[in-house]
Amino acid sequence: MKKDLSNIKKAKYLLDKNHCVAIPTETVYGLAANAYSDKATLKIFKLKKRPKFNPLIVHYFDARDIEDDCEINSDFRKLYNEFCPGPLTFILKLKKNSKISKHVTNAKKTLAVRFPKNLITKRLLKSLNYPLAAPSANIYTQISPVSKKDVKDEFGKKISFILDGGSSKVGLESTIIDLVNKVKILRLGGIEIDKISKVLKRKLKYSKEKNKMQVPGQSKLHYSPNIPIRLNAKKPFSDEAFILIQKRKGFDKKYFYLTKNKNLKEAGKNLYSTLRKIKNLKFNKIAIEKIPNSGLGLTINDRLKRASKR
Ligand code: TXA
Ligand code: MG
Repeated sequence: MKKDLSNIKKAKYLLDKNHCVAIPTETVYGLAANAYSDKATLKIFKLKKRPKFNPLIVHYFDARDIEDDCEINSDFRKLYNEFCPGPLTFILKLKKNSKISKHVTNAKKTLAVRFPKNLITKRLLKSLNYPLAAPSANIYTQISPVSKKDVKDEFGKKISFILDGGSSKVGLESTIIDLVNKVKILRLGGIEIDKISKVLKRKLKYSKEKNKMQVPGQSKLHYSPNIPIRLNAKKPFSDEAFILIQKRKGFDKKYFYLTKNKNLKEAGKNLYSTLRKIKNLKFNKIAIEKIPNSGLGLTINDRLKRASKR
């Protein structure tokens, strides 16, 4: 605890000086900077090698803190009360007099906001007098990091500090919902669509094709370990690492398991760390068993499809 507090202080010190700091969240680790600073947010794009047109999500301590920056509506309140803090990102209308840097929004009139659940990051946010812009802390198109070690694996010594908050409990990025235009899901994520539909009393759908423009980062190769992934495999070929949804008896050093008993939450939590492990063991190919396409399985399959694009 004492260590955590001094780490939070160090993170604040660096962020106040417009540096980037990696922060833990329940979804994945983020590469954070002062969202009100042009200088600080520009550094995020450079470090990540991310194209400037792809806007950033801004992280806040709670709903009161967003009032200076965006317009709130009744759908927001309902979802906030049910799911926040948690893995849900809202697209809201940006206020004209907001101090959010133009690099964050790509000069658009909307803002992506999120309220992370990790306690260390909550404490950090509480101590700052600005919100944190933070994309996932990986090089553009690569696997998202779910631990301090993963962030190091991505960036080496290029970032000044990684705030340790343990391993990410959800392990998949937040679900993104657009509340500005027609209400719609822009990215599948850590909260199931059905749960959101229930709260809004409206059937929501996700269509990848329709979303190409709104979430540019979503349409290309993404979340990739940079080796071919073969989906829906029944058996591996001799040169493939094989990911199974559930642990089996016996041992084979090329077999990797996502869960003990097919729990999709557990599978989501272990997905990126398993892909990273296989990549670091220098396998040249991956085969993965079929993952049930419901609930969080929808998100897992979405990520696997993008990761398998070449
Ligand atoms: O779980 C998460 O959301 C993680 C953690 C760190 O919070 N963050 C994350 O950020 O996944 P990133 O940058 O890797 O993905 C954010 C996505 C991008 O595809 C971006 O295009 C989209 O959000 N986005 C950001 N602002 C937007 C806006 N105003 N309208 C539509 N899409 C937006
Ligand atoms: Mg990302």
